[in-house]
Amino acid sequence: MQGKFITFEGIDGCGKSTQLALTSKLLAEKGFDVVVTREPGGTLISEKIREILLSPDNSEMVNECEILLYCAARAQHVREKIIPEVASGKIVLCDRFQEATFGYQGYGRGIPLDVLKTVNTYATGGLNPDLTFIFDLSVETSAVRMAKINKAKDRLEQNSAEFFQKIRDGFLNMAKSSPERIKLINAEQSIEQISEEVINLIQKHIK
Ligand SMILES: Nc1ncnc2c1ncn2[C@@H]1O[C@H](COP(=O)(O)OP(=O)(O)OP(=O)(O)O)[C@@H](O)[C@H]1O
Ligand SMILES: [Mg+2]
Repeated sequence: MQGKFITFEGIDGCGKSTQLALTSKLLAEKGFDVVVTREPGGTLISEKIREILLSPDNSEMVNECEILLYCAARAQHVREKIIPEVASGKIVLCDRFQEATFGYQGYGRGIPLDVLKTVNTYATGGLNPDLTFIFDLSVETSAVRMAKINKAKDRLEQNSAEFFQKIRDGFLNMAKSSPERIKLINAEQSIEQISEEVINLIQKHIK
């Protein structure tokens, strides 16, 4: 059986990691072979690139460098892990993927989307997720959740509320333009309600 490639997207604190863990558990209980991975990262090389990208020491990083590093990490991840795992029948659940690049670097930082799409397609070799969830949350709720966790902010989390608002709007646009693949989920609901919606959509897709 050919596997599936499913991605989890949305602004900081929207619940991606929470839902990915729950989905993984529920799918495994139903007998599916699940692989959990994340971006930037997922392979040895890509995790090293992640350290550079997230380090608050690297505040001097220019946009062009940031984009190419994300895409470099993705190129390795897609070829070394995602494609082989899907080919062997696994359901690959990935915490962030290309929509994060379009959201943060495109809508957030204002890099032209056509540039990002060209570089991203080179990195992915044209691989698209089978299904993408965007967890939609207000910037205010995101800030409240992140404040509760109260961990040290990484380089990207040090941005302003306007930056996150632009990204949220970008995610809403992406969901509107690819309704077949990209499913918009109201992330203000309870963890249980969201999880049920996600698992139902995956089961519908697999059938
Ligand atoms: N539906 C929800 N309702 C209330 N709190 C939630 C919900 N989902 C997640 N949380 C809480 O919000 C916080 C952020 O969740 P989580 O880490 O899953 O988000 P994330 O999208 O992975 O964030 P990041 O972008 O920082 O990785 C956690 O403390 C989590 O327990
Ligand atoms: Mg997370």
